[in-house]
Amino acid sequence: MKTVETFEQARRDRSGTVGLVPTLGFVHEGHLSLIERARTDTDTVLVSLFVNPLQFGPEEDFDAYPRKPERDARLIEEAGADVLFAPPLEEMYPQPIATEVTVPELAATLDGVTRPHHFGGVATVVAKLFAGLQPDRAYFGRKDAQQLAIVTRMAADLSMPVVVVGCPTVREMDGLALSSRNVYLEGDERRRARALSTGLMAAADAVDSGERNSRVLEEAVRSAAPGFDFEYVATMDRATVAPIEMVDRPAFLAVAGQVGKARLIDNIHLDVDDDGRVTADRGIVLDHPSVLHDQDDR
Ligand code: PAJ
Repeated sequence: MKTVETFEQARRDRSGTVGLVPTLGFVHEGHLSLIERARTDTDTVLVSLFVNPLQFGPEEDFDAYPRKPERDARLIEEAGADVLFAPPLEEMYPQPIATEVTVPELAATLDGVTRPHHFGGVATVVAKLFAGLQPDRAYFGRKDAQQLAIVTRMAADLSMPVVVVGCPTVREMDGLALSSRNVYLEGDERRRARALSTGLMAAADAVDSGERNSRVLEEAVRSAAPGFDFEYVATMDRATVAPIEMVDRPAFLAVAGQVGKARLIDNIHLDVDDDGRVTADRGIVLDHPSVLHDQDDR
């Protein structure tokens, strides 16, 4: 694997189709699953690692965001990447940026409410990565369902010649969705954090039993996680990120909650087949502890 710091270098030495996996680093099996998927789909696999200040609010954890570049590089190489693009701030933002890409309609709900500038920062940096790296395909996790919807819509609206691919959520052994922010959880917080996935899996069971009513599914989440203070429990149209009453089109059921220092989000994607049958994508559960908790490595 080659590590490069400029867009220009990252566009060199490529052959065939190019797959891109954008990340903020501090990688875990969620990121690695995207790289492995890109490896099977495309000839040249490019991973970007950049903690993007534009997508963090003034009160958020930009400075504290966990960083371990050498460890990341090793794991990213082992997962099969050909090029690691790790630009310094001056390469990504050589001058104060005067252009912003926003997808306001899709950012009006869920995390867009509490993080008003977050998705503009994401869309802008992803637009820069698409423009500067020119991938054929780009891989994003279903874990961040609203982000996936926004990036997909941005690429379509701006005629960007890149296929955006959404990949299943990877979970720790206890069901908690992998997130770099899981390292913030201390002591009893880890057990409390399980409420999010426990609630969602109860709703997935209800979907399996034929339930289609959003209100009932959301109630299933809450009753499986009694006492947990959810920021939201919401069933959304997957393309528009607007609430729906019945799961009669591709959707996701999303939850968020604060546990200690960590604001956690999770969701299950709900797929609808031609006969109207709905299946819940519960994601993939690891059968071993995550590399996130590899003490020797941190
Ligand atoms: P980051 O949080 O590092 O996530 C990078 C990619 O990994 C995203 O597509 C995210 O959805 C995916 N991912 C995270 N946790 C996952 C999990 N448990 N299972 C599967 N995929 C998972 O998301 C970002 O970075 C940034 O906003 C970025 C797109 C890089 C723009 O700065």
